[in-house]
Amino acid sequence: MPLERFTDQVVIVTGAASGIGRATAARFAAEGAKVLASDITAGALEISVKEANDGAAPGGEVFGFVADISNEVQAAATIDAAIERWGRLDALANIAGMLRTVRTHECDLETWNKIIGVNLTGTFLMCRAALPHLMESKGSIVNTASTSSFFGHPWMAAYASSKGAIAAFTHSLAVEYCLDGVRVNAVAPGSVTSGITNDVQFPADITREEGKLVRRIMSPTGFGAPEEIASVVAMLASADGRHITGEIIRIDGGTHA
Ligand SMILES: NC(=O)c1ccc[n+]([C@@H]2O[C@H](COP(=O)([O-])OP(=O)(O)OC[C@H]3O[C@@H](n4cnc5c(N)ncnc54)[C@H](O)[C@@H]3O)[C@@H](O)[C@H]2O)c1
Repeated sequence: MPLERFTDQVVIVTGAASGIGRATAARFAAEGAKVLASDITAGALEISVKEANDGAAPGGEVFGFVADISNEVQAAATIDAAIERWGRLDALANIAGMLRTVRTHECDLETWNKIIGVNLTGTFLMCRAALPHLMESKGSIVNTASTSSFFGHPWMAAYASSKGAIAAFTHSLAVEYCLDGVRVNAVAPGSVTSGITNDVQFPADITREEGKLVRRIMSPTGFGAPEEIASVVAMLASADGRHITGEIIRIDGGTHA
């Protein structure tokens, strides 16, 4: 029998147009949640919303909302849209993120600021707007870190810095809001089949020796599926995770075991 841990609960999922965010929105809906599925990419988001609504459990419902998480006004509007529609917020899954690979000595400031702005500041803006509502509902946040938060990955210094900061941000929030009944955790995926990994391009001039460094990222058991991250996000956000806060769960098929 499928789990239905989110009946009558309201969840926001960012990055819902693709990959892990799409699978997470579908997972919450399949467990009966009312889901505000948000992304900056409108067309692909429509497909996610349709798929998640098709698989929703009774009471589950998915509503699409187009927004850029790195924009202060749009991030706040995303939270407001869920409150206006359903009157409460029980969980925020910050999945949206972006990756650019570049040699660090060739990384321009615009690229650095963009990656930090989306992955770190965007997560902060969403959390800031959500926290007053989560304190009311005794809800939870699940952020998205990465194995690059903890292990050196080549050509990804900006991305890894943003994800390392997500780990620190998650720990800080967990402590700051534990007495308010709000739990804050994160997942740290390794390599997962998604838009980010499909589009990744390493520097064109990497040498054969440098190419071996890519093994630091690749799981010996192959790429994970977005659903394998979504299931952990759902567990952390659910009552099954009620004694877990400030935790970052590495999901990498054993790469860093
Ligand atoms: N795929 C992996 O191997 C992997 C590994 C570790 C961490 N992650 C993290 O998982 C999360 C999901 O990524 P994915 O792998 O599903 O990639 P993806 O590219 O398939 O999905 C990312 C989604 O985020 C959206 N997005 C990007 N910038 C945005 C913005 N400013 N505002 C709103 N939405 C925005 C994109 O439109 C896209 O739909 C990211 O935070 C990523 O860093 C992925």
